[in-house]
Amino acid sequence: MTIRTADRLLRVEEYYFSKKLAEVAQLKENGADIINLGIGSPDMPPHPDVKKELVYACDQTGSNHYQSYRGLESFRQAIAHWYKSIYDVELDASKEILPLMGSKEGIMHVSMAFCNPGETVLVPNPCYPAYLSAAKLLNINLKFYNLKEENNWLPNMEEIESLCDDSCRMIWTNYPHMPTGANGNMEVFKQLVDLAKKKNILVVNDNPYSLILNDKPESLLKVEGVSEFVLEMNSLSKSHNMAGFRVGMLCGSEKNINHVLKIKSNFDSGMYKPIQLAASKALALDTSWYKELNINYQKRRNLVWSLADKLNCKYKKNSVGMFVWAKIPDEYNSGEDFSDHLLYNKSVFATPGIVFGQEGKKYIRFSLCATEETIIKAIERCEKNVETLVNI
Ligand SMILES: Cc1ncc(COP(=O)(O)O)c(C=O)c1O
Repeated sequence: MTIRTADRLLRVEEYYFSKKLAEVAQLKENGADIINLGIGSPDMPPHPDVKKELVYACDQTGSNHYQSYRGLESFRQAIAHWYKSIYDVELDASKEILPLMGSKEGIMHVSMAFCNPGETVLVPNPCYPAYLSAAKLLNINLKFYNLKEENNWLPNMEEIESLCDDSCRMIWTNYPHMPTGANGNMEVFKQLVDLAKKKNILVVNDNPYSLILNDKPESLLKVEGVSEFVLEMNSLSKSHNMAGFRVGMLCGSEKNINHVLKIKSNFDSGMYKPIQLAASKALALDTSWYKELNINYQKRRNLVWSLADKLNCKYKKNSVGMFVWAKIPDEYNSGEDFSDHLLYNKSVFATPGIVFGQEGKKYIRFSLCATEETIIKAIERCEKNVETLVNI
């Protein structure tokens, strides 16, 4: 006898990285010295003041209590100041901000708040897989709008409009885009919002990469006079090396924030106070923090470009964010074959583009979350003609 499971389990698969990283761990256990350039988990530490604040706050009376569903007022103020200083967007800290435990969490809550089962959400192809999982778990229909290299991975607005039928409730957008590293611009945001207005749907930008290797961070919320039609999620995971802290934010109109709060407050009971205080410190850091961070990412990216050259992969130098998205050599059928070739013959793991959708089939994604020494080691392995470092 086995316990019967819910039908929704049939609609999703275990997350790719959860499966593949288990395989990588097994190879390591078998003695292979695997270099992991697969995952975007920042390896550099948060600012020392952030860690200090966390430790100090843990010791304060009351830090263990349940917290407000809306987050600390002081944290929301810190988010409002940060949005003003980074994006030049004014937010009312008491009404237009909802702290999140990372943007991944927000994807599910936003989907639940705005889409019924059987209605439709538009997602980019390729994209962060969590948009798809949320829709599948909630029985929401998915339609893909294709991003193509020849269009600099920007949306084709005519295609999007043709997909917006009466069942369409929401469009996901993600600029700077993961995995391609394409940067958005205000013109694209404005076009998306004009369409959202025309069709009476919501457009949600997922914006965790705007401070990585990007001179001009932009926000969808900067498009004027459209607050009913837009939401934006942001995160400290990448910009402040705080991925494991689980801290981010949702910003938008009071009405839309309240819709999401209605869902979220039924799932959790506020975020641990020391994390909110530490995150407030992080958001108050001056611009030298981002400069230092990006000096490191820049050096790493130069090395990953050399690695991609060695592997005969083609990439764009004007991309932003913490990945290098590269087209695989013609002799390989798919990014998966190429990724397996690297893993099994060179003990280097990089993510096949198909994980992010069909448009990523011929691509591979290298993460910049590895030290320069590690990337140099990967280059050396790929220079040698000797295959095989893995004992499978
Ligand atoms: C596009 C995109 N959105 C959201 C996330 C998740 O961010 P968080 O750590 O804030 O949940 C990621 C993480 O890899 C991502 O690539």
